[in-house]
Amino acid sequence: MLDNRPTLPPEIARRRTFAIISHPDAGKTTLTEKFLLFGGAIQMAGQVRAKGEARRTRSDFMKMEQDRGISVSASAMSFEFGPYRFNLVDTPGHSDFSEDTYRTLTAVDAAIMVIDGAKGVESQTRKLFEVCRLRDLPILTFCNKMDRESRDVFEIIDEIQENLAIDVAPASWPIGMGRDFVGAYDLLHDRLEIMDRADRNKVAESIKITGLDDPRLADHIPADLLTKFREEIEMARELLPRFDRQAFLEGHMTPIWFGSAINSFGVKELMDGMGEYGPEPQPQTAKERQLDAGETKVAGFVFKVQANMDPKHRDRVAFVRLASGHFERGMKLLHVRSKKQMAVSNPVLFLAADRELAEEAWAGDIIGIPNHGQLRIGDALTEGEALHFTGIPSFAPELLQGVRAGDPMKAKHLEKALMQFAEEGAAKVFKPMIGSGFIVGVVGALQFEVLASRIEQEYSLPVRFEPSQFSSARWVQGPKTAVEKLVNVNKGHIATDSDGDTVFLTRLQWDIDRVVRDHPDIRLTATKEMM
Ligand code: G4P
Repeated sequence: MLDNRPTLPPEIARRRTFAIISHPDAGKTTLTEKFLLFGGAIQMAGQVRAKGEARRTRSDFMKMEQDRGISVSASAMSFEFGPYRFNLVDTPGHSDFSEDTYRTLTAVDAAIMVIDGAKGVESQTRKLFEVCRLRDLPILTFCNKMDRESRDVFEIIDEIQENLAIDVAPASWPIGMGRDFVGAYDLLHDRLEIMDRADRNKVAESIKITGLDDPRLADHIPADLLTKFREEIEMARELLPRFDRQAFLEGHMTPIWFGSAINSFGVKELMDGMGEYGPEPQPQTAKERQLDAGETKVAGFVFKVQANMDPKHRDRVAFVRLASGHFERGMKLLHVRSKKQMAVSNPVLFLAADRELAEEAWAGDIIGIPNHGQLRIGDALTEGEALHFTGIPSFAPELLQGVRAGDPMKAKHLEKALMQFAEEGAAKVFKPMIGSGFIVGVVGALQFEVLASRIEQEYSLPVRFEPSQFSSARWVQGPKTAVEKLVNVNKGHIATDSDGDTVFLTRLQWDIDRVVRDHPDIRLTATKEMM
């Protein structure tokens, strides 16, 4: 990621489009809410929040899924922060929905990694971090819950450096922890930030300091903590790298802030950091060429589809990341896959709990386009150029089950429902060559239950998932004749996915090895690009 590109138009350059990644419970929701609060998008804390644990129980999750309005407005949130325009794209919290998360991360230019100061780097943090690394996304780190007993700061930093193989540069340094937590020293601006324990929604008091010898430090920090703090800073300056913006933009270094989201502490500094150092809308890669955000023509790609937000109307919203240009409502854009023009007359922007018509939007923004199923994940919209954006992955599912409608007469109905969920990206749907019925593939078992519940709710169609003889799926790639040859001798293993692409289904790795051995021109892949 480079910062020496041609200067972007100011409206684009001020945009910061990012996601927050974390292990459940680290404080992502709380932090998001404080962002919205300080961004003026909500008036008080508690408005967008479903309680952490409750949200993750299955019944509440399904209820939330059914209550599409809420989850949709939380999918992408835009708000102003000082001179910046922030677009915060939500990543689903549940680990079963990781494919959605992967795709969401294709729509952002940076990520904030939240870790719990007592727990450090946890499994889900690591997984999500690896996805960010694949894309060299710049990452800002927020070490949360410093108002509780936390680990030693050096230990936390070491763990991130070793576990995630990234340089960590402290942007702030905490003073005390747990009950003795006073605040933090902003190392990038030489400021002392004091936490207000009385008012959880108040931004910390900020005192400009001339350096570590400034006598004013003693007015705010108890003597023993001050001595320890000075020693730590000295050590940190010796042992830890200084913040280097270029290294950060290239994804090799993460600045870390220490704070307490629930106490609003450190949040504003983190937001300032995102504004000041975070990347501008980055170039996007298409098969044909690279697109710069500053190009005058509008182009964008769909990274997420959410269907049946209003079950009565069967509408869907496609979330589009604008890759370039200045979009205005009513524009006619080319839908590259179908080669048809599409008048985008009612695009929406998501503002915290509301959505409103987007009169205009710029590269970097996320707009929602209501449609009746024309728009799919990976689709491109342009002012005429046939572009195919790359890097939006589809993963082979890890769990496969057969599915049947309770009423066999409703098979067509079921097919329609399944195709819709496939387009939405909620599941993979395979139609085997032999036999009737469908095989549904997902990443996590919870998705089967959510699907069954949604099919019943949205299509009034009770369905049954049942064990399948297959446990993995691979896309078949190769010259047409080689594919035909493979299909002919393996009919019992062949299916097509919802795009009509050929898939090899199997239970055994042995089968996969056999195909690779017997069909040298064939590649069996666990991912495919959605274009
Ligand atoms: P998540 O989205 O990453 O899953 O985390 P969430 O914000 O829901 O926070 C998880 C729990 O951690 C919540 O407690 C939340 O209040 C608490 N929390 C968040 N930030 C801080 C912090 O800075 N300090 C402390 N001490 N706690 C914090 P909960 O008991 O699950 O919910 P609640 O009853 O507090 O709302």
